[in-house]
Amino acid sequence: MDSKKVVIELQNVKREFLVGDEMVHALRGVSFKIYEGEFVTIMGKSGSGKSTLLNQLGCLDTPSSGEYLLDGVSVRTMSRPQRAVLRNRKIGFIFQNYNLLPKTTSIENVELPLMYNSDVSSTERHDRAIEALKAVGLGDRLYHKSNQMSGGQMQRVAIARALVNNPAVILADEATGNLDTRTSFEILVLFQKLFAAGRTIIFVTHNPDLANYSSRNIMLRDGKVISDEYNNNIQSAAEALAQLPPSTDE
Ligand SMILES: Nc1ncnc2c1ncn2[C@@H]1O[C@H](COP(=O)(O)OP(=O)(O)O)[C@@H](O)[C@H]1O
Ligand SMILES: [Mg+2]
Repeated sequence: MDSKKVVIELQNVKREFLVGDEMVHALRGVSFKIYEGEFVTIMGKSGSGKSTLLNQLGCLDTPSSGEYLLDGVSVRTMSRPQRAVLRNRKIGFIFQNYNLLPKTTSIENVELPLMYNSDVSSTERHDRAIEALKAVGLGDRLYHKSNQMSGGQMQRVAIARALVNNPAVILADEATGNLDTRTSFEILVLFQKLFAAGRTIIFVTHNPDLANYSSRNIMLRDGKVISDEYNNNIQSAAEALAQLPPSTDE
C-alpha cells in the first residue's frame, strides 16, 4: 500500500464541544490514512462521531487538536477563505438529501462547482457538466429540472456535480439514506464504477450492510476508531441489484 499516494491523513484528531458547562468529546483522537483509489465506508451508531468526522474531512470544521492533511496540505494552518478554495477544488460532496438547487436544470446544478474557478470558461463548464452527467447515466436528462426527477435521478445529478471538478476525494454522507432498496443499489453500482475507475471515495453511513461493497471499513464508537479493516471479498452491487425483485412501479 505504501507506494500509493496518501490522499487523507488524520493524526490524533480531537474535537470537543462545550455545551453549557459540559465538554462533549465528539472525536477522541482519530488517526488514519486513506490512499488514492480506496473506497472507504465509515460506520458507527448515531452519536459515534460520524458527522463530526465528515465535517473535518470536508474542511467544514477544524479540529480542537491534531492534524489533518488533505492531499499533502495541512488544513489547520489555512485561513477560512483558503479552506473554502481547497474544499471546492479537492472535494466532491454527496449528501443524503441531494442538496440540488430547486427548479434548476441538471446542467446548471452540475456546473455550479466550476463557477468558482476562473480558469474554466463557460464553454468548458458546459462541456464538462454534460460529460459528468453522461458518466452517471443522465445523458437524456440534461435539461430536466430537479423537481422533475426521481430521488435516484437527483442523486445521480449530485454525483455528477461531485465529479465535475475532478476532486481528490469524494465524500458521501448517507448518500443512499433517502432511497428505496432498488434505487440504493443502483447508486451503489455507480459508486463501485467510480471505485473501479480509480476514484477515492469516503462513504459515511450507519448501514452496516454497505461494508460488503467497499474496499475498507472504518468503525467509530464514542469518537474513536474501534476497527479499520480491508475487505478482500468485495461484493458486486450489480449482482445484488440483479437479484432484487423487479420494481413494482413500472
Ligand atoms: N455542534 C455540536 N455541539 C455540541 N455537541 C455536538 C455538536 N456536534 C456533535 N455533537 C455531539 O458530538 C457527538 C457526536 O455527534 P455526531 O458527530 O453528530 O455523531 P453521528 O453523526 O455519528 O450521529 C454527539 O454526542 C453529539 O451530541
Ligand atoms: Mg450524523
